[in-house]
Amino acid sequence: QAAPVVAIDGPSASGKGTVAARVAAALGFAYLDSGALYRLTALAAQRAGVDWADEERVAAIAAALDVEFLENEIRLDGQLVGDAIRTEAMSAGASKVAALPAVREALLFRQRAFNTKPGLVGDGRDMGSVIFPHAPLKVFLTASAEVRAERRYKQLIEKGLSANLTDLLLDLQQRDERDSQRSVAPLRQERDAKLLDTTGLTIEQAVDQVLVWSREAL
Ligand code: C5P
Repeated sequence: QAAPVVAIDGPSASGKGTVAARVAAALGFAYLDSGALYRLTALAAQRAGVDWADEERVAAIAAALDVEFLENEIRLDGQLVGDAIRTEAMSAGASKVAALPAVREALLFRQRAFNTKPGLVGDGRDMGSVIFPHAPLKVFLTASAEVRAERRYKQLIEKGLSANLTDLLLDLQQRDERDSQRSVAPLRQERDAKLLDTTGLTIEQAVDQVLVWSREAL
């Protein structure tokens, strides 16, 4: 019997990664950053000189990914990836390869394999709709596009990277559009998902709300 899953889906830079990781820590559950798998696929394809639109070859790369999730790091082909998957270029690449059905198929069972005891918090776009449809708690975590662009901007500046707020907002909107309009596993709020709008919330408030719901649902 599978262990309980908290499925957290939502658009880019909504804060779901941070919230999901903290909820997982509070519950003592494992944490799946599913977006990282699409980012790693995009990175591995780029390193292999494979075009992000080449569905067959990108899917083969996704199926064969040699990846290891550590506490706060990820190893790809035995090497730490660091921020190489967090660049804006890899954000765009991830959302492109994620639109290919064969790539999603290739990553399906890899994601389900994270569902071990005592439980899992998964964050992504299709945790509640496709990967863990029987999750006892599904959260759709969002925030206004402006607030999300500002959060991403602050993150990049804090890392000492350069950033332009207008460009970030435009990128986010394009990515939202691509993620919501694609034919496979589009981003949308499931009927049985609880809506958490974090526009006016702190991370702590968002985490607390998910934990309240977890106590009710698990
Ligand atoms: O969550 P993150 O921004 O890291 O995800 C990167 C991209 O991967 C998203 O823009 C989306 O296109 C894709 N993705 C997805 N399904 C998931 C997680 C991420 O399609 N479950």
